[in-house]
Amino acid sequence: MSVLICGGAGYIGSHAVKKFVEAGEDVIVVDSLETGHRAALDPGVKLYVGDIRFATVLEQIFDENKIDAVIHFAANSLVGESVAHPLKYFNNNVGGMQSLLEAMARHDVKRIVFSSTAAVYGEPTKVPIEEDDPTLPTNPYGETKLAMEKMMKWVSRADGIDFVSLRYFNAAGAIEDGSIGEAHVRETHLIPLILQVPLGKREAITIFGTDYPTEDGTCIRDYIHVLDLADAHLKALEYLRAGGGSNIFNLGSGAGFSVKQMIKAAEKVTGQAIKVKLGDRRAGDPAVLIASSEKARRVLGWTPKFDDVEKIIADAWTWHRAHPDGYND
Ligand code: UFG
Repeated sequence: MSVLICGGAGYIGSHAVKKFVEAGEDVIVVDSLETGHRAALDPGVKLYVGDIRFATVLEQIFDENKIDAVIHFAANSLVGESVAHPLKYFNNNVGGMQSLLEAMARHDVKRIVFSSTAAVYGEPTKVPIEEDDPTLPTNPYGETKLAMEKMMKWVSRADGIDFVSLRYFNAAGAIEDGSIGEAHVRETHLIPLILQVPLGKREAITIFGTDYPTEDGTCIRDYIHVLDLADAHLKALEYLRAGGGSNIFNLGSGAGFSVKQMIKAAEKVTGQAIKVKLGDRRAGDPAVLIASSEKARRVLGWTPKFDDVEKIIADAWTWHRAHPDGYND
């Protein structure tokens, strides 16, 4: 039996593929390569290049392979872009999930682990955030991920497809040998942007807002190593295989770091002074986002191994230094 990893050529998906292969799983990847990269996969991994919104793509995969479970990363994931182009997000993210669940139901595949996000909570009512806290997304990206969770909830009741939804906080870092990592055409994430300064690709990092109600006035986030996220997917699948029912888990380190602290840590890791510009707030950024991951720790037996933010930045640095322009394809 094989595990189908949708979006396995993307940043988090490609780290999960490595983890699943290491664990002895027979892995099959489907990726449209719209934002994923062929080079993020070892040549031995079976890859179908295609869009999961098309039933024909999934029919071929489910016909040619015996699939036991699906790990679903395939989605658009830029908050700003989702505000500008909401229908792109509803079409691709929600449409992709519908097509995938239809194919799973047709082929009697009963398990799915889904890549969700802290963006489903919107502006938090308290920190650390727990899974039962209100979900009021403040952008279409978070709204589509919440809709995808709800779609799974109703389908699980109707068709017996069990799901685990993993709500990540700020995914960061890279595999320790630097062979794969974060490579977006239009980068918006803090750590890669900070590291572009010592790489000589950017003159300065702009801090978006210095008047937040936090100790140093800059936003606080919960950064979680991509390898710990990958590990959580494996544990979620083990949980479903052991008969654990449908469930939702936050994934974060439980510790918050401000933008200024992240820049300081990056200076320490790279040994270089990083030039800073003070900018306005970015629309829709909550002041503080910190996860309670108690439930994942308790129920899945998941413990983040990389809880040191300097280690997370150091691994990202290894990747970016070796691949300053990302992948070649
Ligand atoms: N930031 C800057 N300057 C930059 C880029 C980011 O100051 O050039 C700040 C942001 O304002 C924010 C923090 O750095 O306070 C982190 O920003 P990111 O864009 O790296 O990450 P976000 O917290 O905005 O987004 C993350 C995930 C999203 C998810 C969101 C949930 O990347 O997928 O958390 O709110 F939707």
